[in-house]
Amino acid sequence: MVELRPIRLGVNVDHVATLRNARGGWHPDPLRAAKAAVAAGADGITVHLREDRRHIRDEDVRRIRAEVAAPLNFELAATPEMLAIALDVKPHAACVVPEKRTERTTEGGLEVANARATLAPFVAKLRAAGIRVSLFIEPDPAQIEAAAAVEAPVIEIHTGAWCEAIAAGDAKAAQTVFERIRQGAQQAVKLGLEVHAGHGLDFATAETISALPEIVELNIGHFLIGEALFSGLEPVIHTFRAAMDRGRAKAREQAA
Ligand code: PXP
Repeated sequence: MVELRPIRLGVNVDHVATLRNARGGWHPDPLRAAKAAVAAGADGITVHLREDRRHIRDEDVRRIRAEVAAPLNFELAATPEMLAIALDVKPHAACVVPEKRTERTTEGGLEVANARATLAPFVAKLRAAGIRVSLFIEPDPAQIEAAAAVEAPVIEIHTGAWCEAIAAGDAKAAQTVFERIRQGAQQAVKLGLEVHAGHGLDFATAETISALPEIVELNIGHFLIGEALFSGLEPVIHTFRAAMDRGRAKAREQAA
């Protein structure tokens, strides 16, 4: 049986930068959001520095790394440019994601199974710098196995398809994808991997997924920042924490 570990909340502040960039200048500042999120109980801060710098910019990464005490999870594409930035900034964690210029957000997981030869040295260089590496992948047995093969210590399971099926009211599809996530998380733990999850999560889905004992971190951005417009960052983070705690309590009941 899996040892029941606490579940961490990583807050992605990319969309604070999206709003800032709509007008140029410095307001609203993602660093201020990161500090407020940590003060409200976030366990870490996540940023995705895209090739086109459409939201987070290089100086945001450096300022957050320097001024926020909580661990920084740096999302990056597997490119030489991003590797050089990661090795220079030395975040606590790096999450390798696929990146297409035309996408609005990260669509689908990273292809690991067919990219072992390039990903293995990429992961090795980050790990050699003391950075905890995760790979953002679909809950697909072949991808999970490949993540272990390239010696990534962590995977982040892409929850987008599951959240979309729920939003579309397709309970059957949602159940099928959730089962894949559940089995994928179990497979990953058996392979010695730490398991995180993220993409598209809201209060209800964060509660449901927190009941999977293998998952020890959620990374949440779009819904959390959007909801903060209505009720403020602090209450939203408290509501997420409470939802995750309820999910964890369910896992505890099921394990008892
Ligand atoms: N995890 C990863 C690896 C992501 O790329 C994203 C989206 O930037 C998220 C989590 C957060 O997804 P969302 O913004 O939909 O909560």
